[in-house]
Formats: sequence, structure tokens, C-alpha cells
Amino acid sequence: MIQNDILLKHLSSVMDPELGVNIVDLGMVKDITYNNSEITIDLALTIAECPMRNQIESEIKRKLKLIENIDEVNINVVAMSKEDRASLMSTARKNAREKAIPTQINTRTRVLAIGSGKGGVGKSTISTNLAVGLEKLGFATGLLDADIWGFSIPRLLGIEGRLEANEEKKIIPYKKDGLEIVSTGLIAEDEDTALMWRGLMLSKALEQFLFDVAWGNLDYLVIDLPPGTGDIQMALGRLLPQTELLVVTTPQPSAQKVATRVADMAKRSFIPLLGVVENMSYFETDDETKYQIFGEGGGDELSTKFGIPLLSKIPISETSVEESENGIPILLQQNESPTKKAMENLVNEIIKVLPPVSDETCTGRLAKVLEELEAEE
Ligand SMILES: Nc1ncnc2c1ncn2[C@@H]1O[C@H](COP(=O)(O)OP(=O)(O)OP(=O)(O)O)[C@@H](O)[C@H]1O
Ligand SMILES: [Mg+2]
Repeated sequence: MIQNDILLKHLSSVMDPELGVNIVDLGMVKDITYNNSEITIDLALTIAECPMRNQIESEIKRKLKLIENIDEVNINVVAMSKEDRASLMSTARKNAREKAIPTQINTRTRVLAIGSGKGGVGKSTISTNLAVGLEKLGFATGLLDADIWGFSIPRLLGIEGRLEANEEKKIIPYKKDGLEIVSTGLIAEDEDTALMWRGLMLSKALEQFLFDVAWGNLDYLVIDLPPGTGDIQMALGRLLPQTELLVVTTPQPSAQKVATRVADMAKRSFIPLLGVVENMSYFETDDETKYQIFGEGGGDELSTKFGIPLLSKIPISETSVEESENGIPILLQQNESPTKKAMENLVNEIIKVLPPVSDETCTGRLAKVLEELEAEE
């Protein structure tokens, strides 16, 4: 039997994207009943036809399915009473006032962390191309290099320089063609700052990047994680509850053990798994023959094991490596290589599985509800 507090803990990581408060604190979880591996949640929404409804429902399902032995999640949407709505609004208002240190990331920003169990599988390459691709499609996008010591984003984007601070002492992200970039590689290399950074715990460095950076109003934030399952990954689940994890793996089945560790870590830190990307899957010659140089099946195996989609298989690129290493991401290269096509494809898949939070909001409707309430008082 699953404990109610475990369920509530998972449910508390589902935020109402507009109010920026979790659904448990907002009193939206009215009842939880279970029958073996099947769970039914009575969910009270402010307004039943709220455009956020689908998003909240699917978030609940994904978070609860992280719990072992839960196979089926049913959601009953129930109406909120007048009292419920009034108390919800006062919680939301109180939270807005009191929230001590909100991160600089809008609760409506989609956060996509790119992780892997082991190093060198292509996380940074994929993060960079994803961010560039999303920005190219017109989404306001940020790229956070959370690989504090092993940073590689500045090199992959061919940028150098020093991040400046604004009048409020917040760090201004580096901008390249609209893309907002933050990396320790862009922090002054003088002795003092180097010492300061060395003294910081890794998770503290991440906190700084989330609290002390004047990020814009982003549709997407792509986070390039360091390899493995350390502090940064755990801190991320706590600091940015809307984070989703994309696991990068290579095709050889032996790579699965390490990738599995990342997936387990994600569960422990309440980060939903968005999908798997298999990188360096095959080599394609000009006549479109494919060679599975590193074996095959790794991505599929992981996808089946965790019940998450294999979003893309990215071929090994031959011509583009040198350019990539010199600051031109594959997506911006002239050569229409199979690898470039696969990256473009991946960007489109991401938009499908994690669309930007809809512009249409409930705020207007909530305001109306409030007006009605106040009129009745
Ligand atoms: N599809 C690909 N085809 C050819 N080379 C690739 C491909 N993807 C990545 N690489 C190369 O593999 C190397 C490692 O890639 P990358 O730095 O992106 O991996 P990583 O997972 O971020 O590594 P780390 O764990 O060290 O941060 C780089 O030289 C990169 O150019
Ligand atoms: Mg990397």
C-alpha cells in the first residue's frame, strides 16, 4: 500500500503554471483513492474548462507514474466551491508576497535538462543544438551550462567574453542571436573570481545561476548537465520543479546500465523523464547505407524499460565534427548532413512532447472569478 504522504510529496511537485504554487498547497487535490496499482485523484480546478487543464493532468500522471507499483492514474475533475476558490486565491497571493527567493526562471518556462550516466555521449552537443534550434524557430530560449567545471558551451558556440552584471547586481546572460547563455566559462578568469568559484559547492553554483541571473522571459531553458548523478542533478529537482530530463545514451547495450542510474536518480529527485536520445547511432554514407558502428538497440532498450519515447537516433557525423569543435553547431552548418537533419527532427519532437506553455491563460478568467466573488461578498 502506498503511503499518502509519498503521494502528496509527488503531487506537491506539480505546479499550477500560472500561480507558481503547487497543486497541493492550492487545495486542488481533493481526494485520493486507490485500488491496487490504480490511483484516482479528485482534482479541483478553478474553472473546469481552464486551458491549463490538460497540462496539469498530464503532469500529475507523469509524476505519479514515477512511483513504483502505480500503473494507472485516473483524474476526476471536480468543481471548486466558492470557498475553495477564495482560499486558493489567498494562498496564491500570500505565496507571491512571501516566496522568499524565487528563481529567476518563470514558472511557465519549459525546462529541459540533458543528462547521461557517463561522459562523452554528446550531452553538450545535443544541448547546444537544441537551444539553437528552438531559438531559430522563434522561441525565447536560454542555455544554461550546468557543467560547472567541465563547461563546453562557450567553445561549442564559439563565444568568449565575460558576463556583466546589471544595476540590480544580477548577471546578464550572454546573448548570441537572441539565445541567452550562461556558463562558468564566461566568468572572469581572474584570481579572485576563480577562488570564489572554487569555494562554492557545485549545487550552490547552480543556485547562483538560477537566482542571480537576469534571465529573460523564456519559453524554454535548456540545461546541459555534467555527466553522472551528482549534486547538480539532485539540486535541480528541488530548485526547478518544472524540470524534465532528456537522457542521452549511445547504442551499445552495455551503456544501458549507466543510463539506468540516471533514470533512477531522476525518479528520486521527482524529475520526469521526457525521453531518450540515442546519439552516435550509426554512420550513413552518401549512398544512404547505414553502418551500426557502435552496436545497436541501446536507445530502444532504455525507452522500453522506462516506458518513455525514444525521440531520436542521431547519426555519427564525420564532416561536421571539426566545425562543431570550432563553434558552429551542426544545426547552423551549411552541409545538409544526416546528423543535421536528425537534430532538426529532435527539435521538432521536443516541441511536440513538451510544447511551450500556451499563451492562452486562465488569469483573465481567474480575475473574473475574483470579481464575482467580491461582488457576492
Ligand atoms: N553525433 C555525433 N557524431 C560525431 N561526433 C559527435 C556526435 N555527438 C557528439 N560528438 C562528439 O563527441 C564528443 C563528446 O561530445 P559532447 O562534449 O557533446 O559530450 P558530453 O556528453 O557533453 O561530454 P561530457 O560528459 O564530457 O560533458 C565531442 O567531440 C563531440 O563533437
Ligand atoms: Mg558536456
